[in-house]
Amino acid sequence: MALARDPGAGQEHKDAADQNFDYMFKLLIIGNSSVGKTSFLFRFADDSFTSAFVSTVGIDFKVKTVYRNDKRVKLQIWDTAGQERYRTITTAYYRGAMGFLLMYDITSQESFCAVQDWATQIKTYSWGNAQVVLIGNKLDMEEDRQVPTEDAQRLATDLGFQFFEASAKDNINVKQVFDKLVDVICEKMNESVNGDASPSANHKEAGLKETPNSSPGGCAC
Ligand code: GTP
Ligand code: MG
Repeated sequence: MALARDPGAGQEHKDAADQNFDYMFKLLIIGNSSVGKTSFLFRFADDSFTSAFVSTVGIDFKVKTVYRNDKRVKLQIWDTAGQERYRTITTAYYRGAMGFLLMYDITSQESFCAVQDWATQIKTYSWGNAQVVLIGNKLDMEEDRQVPTEDAQRLATDLGFQFFEASAKDNINVKQVFDKLVDVICEKMNESVNGDASPSANHKEAGLKETPNSSPGGCAC
């Protein structure tokens, strides 16, 4: 994994230089180390999965173009290191993000307890109008579950976040998470375009104005 690479330098991503899109959204994946952030991104972008754990160093990204409502939406997805020692680097990338995938591991209560802290980081370092999806990953490991679905759903509701349980390994809800995030970003974008429900193609790299309902909620711990 590269350390804080320039997005323009990612020539190995065939999509990266493609200028044929209607919108470009920058998304950030955050959460504790080993919850499966990199695996989730690889499943989405490359449809691949490996059980080997190579902890991310700093930050990396992938580009993938999706189609929503007849629009080509180019996603620049930043995969952050969960380890505390990279926090200064990773939080520097929050500002430009229009959407966050905040991930915990359903088999790790500790990773779920950290969700509130991650939400605070978003509030502190992002634009304040970014959309957030809370993801409980490793749904394939139901027998080792430590975090009840209801607890996570309640916290997501309190925080004003969307919520999914998913599995990068078994490819459960991976595409759905990204589709939902793109949809809520588009909705907010439409609301912010004064009286115009269909934003023009001139707004390729869109900005948002609405603030999500992000009242703090309590951790179940
Ligand atoms: P950092 O880069 O250190 O922040 O970790 P990360 O969140 O990127 O975790 P990573 O994607 O590297 O995955 C950590 C470990 O969990 C690896 O061994 C993965 O194979 C495994 N893993 C990831 N997603 C899943 C999943 O959905 N199910 C199962 N069973 N294992 C998973
Ligand atoms: Mg990683």
